[in-house]
Amino acid sequence: AIERTFSIIKPDATKRNLTGAVNAVIEAAGLQIVAQKRIRMSLPEARKFYAVHKERPFFGELVDFMVSAPVVVQVLEGENAVAKYREIMGATNPAQAAEGTIRKLYAVSVGENSVHGSDSVENAKIEIAQFFSENEILPA
Ligand code: CMP
Repeated sequence: AIERTFSIIKPDATKRNLTGAVNAVIEAAGLQIVAQKRIRMSLPEARKFYAVHKERPFFGELVDFMVSAPVVVQVLEGENAVAKYREIMGATNPAQAAEGTIRKLYAVSVGENSVHGSDSVENAKIEIAQFFSENEILPA
């Protein structure tokens, strides 16, 4: 089915001028970038976005990292978009990521791992709604 997923190009990637490189991998995989903006995430926004991880030992580090520099938030659309994007992102830890994946190509570490992608269609809807209104999402 045609799905939407939510993506973030994280600070480690925006700082290294890799926005276009990441987008090239996304588009080569057949996913369409139907919404995109570069933002500086606020601390409350980052805490809300990652609330599911608030008990994890790395929560503080994760939130600090996400507000440390601009990010690019995106909506990706296409056949099976949630699973397809997770496949091309690669494993959370770049040391375990498959060849050719975004994290294998560009990620620095498990924390500075260049991209986020939703883990389900249901969570994608929630994550998209945190950053985009429906009139900002423009399929071809
Ligand atoms: P993401 O898909 O954005 O969702 C949760 C994030 O937590 C994950 O990517 C990682 O970047 C981050 N994360 C997971 N494990 C660790 C860890 N051990 N240390 C720091 N960050 C982590």
